[in-house]
Amino acid sequence: MTDLYAVIGNPVEHSRSPLIHAEFARQTRQPVSYGKLYAEIAGFEAVVQRFREEGGRGVNVTVPFKHRAYALASSRSRRAEEAQAVNTLSFEADGIKADNTDGVGLVRDLTRNLGCAIQNRRVLVMGAGGAAYGVCGPLLDAGPATLVVANRTPDKAMDLATRFAGLFPAAPEVTGAGYAELEGREFDLVINATSAGLSGEMPALPAGVFAPGALAYDLVYGKDTPFLALAARAGARAADGLGMLVEQAAESFYLWRGMRPDTAPVIELLRGTSKC
Ligand code: ATR
Repeated sequence: MTDLYAVIGNPVEHSRSPLIHAEFARQTRQPVSYGKLYAEIAGFEAVVQRFREEGGRGVNVTVPFKHRAYALASSRSRRAEEAQAVNTLSFEADGIKADNTDGVGLVRDLTRNLGCAIQNRRVLVMGAGGAAYGVCGPLLDAGPATLVVANRTPDKAMDLATRFAGLFPAAPEVTGAGYAELEGREFDLVINATSAGLSGEMPALPAGVFAPGALAYDLVYGKDTPFLALAARAGARAADGLGMLVEQAAESFYLWRGMRPDTAPVIELLRGTSKC
């Protein structure tokens, strides 16, 4: 019998998750079928419940439903609690379990695929919205020397930093800032977790933030964002979020199936078909 999974979002048409999970299923010989579910904004919970009643085993959740998926769940992982938003729901006999695999997907892409160490490095996260909340916990788990969160609206960066400093009391420095305060500071890893690049915009990031040998990482994939262009001009290595997309999917697959697929060929496959 085939087990049913899906990605649910609005919009969802563009999602690469069905292709990624089809590759994972083929590779691991798991009897998995993975589709797309569109939900009207008001109808997210009903679509999830119907899919569950029809025999679905779990869903990935994408914009704009990650917070509502968190609220819908009956139990949540530590990663889910940290982010207050989830991208993975598992339908169990005793309820709906929620997890957030985005941050661990980012950390795996950085450390395993891109060879970028996080431990004892200076890390800058740009943005203080849902995407930033999703990645800060796993980044702090990896033991950076500093984690600075910068945002156009500095108060939101302060709130995020205060929350994560409280969750990770042993972390050496977790601070929030506006972009202007970054003048004169250098980072080994700069992560763009803003949505600015989607509309071709660029946060007011000082070009001097890239330390020699720094890696610039944009969570957005398949786009030449102004952030990656700035980083390249400043001499930094630049990476988009395609590897994170595949790694977060692999972690969801592991939660559902107990098996870890090989991500490298799937990243290569998508790289070949993406517009980047
Ligand atoms: P997501 O879930 O993708 O993080 P979000 O919660 O709406 O979406 O957050 C968007 C983030 O991108 C915010 O940090 C936002 O900054 P503000 O908090 O100041 O709004 C940031 N952002 C969006 N457009 C931006 C732009 N043009 N310049 C700088 N930051 C931008």
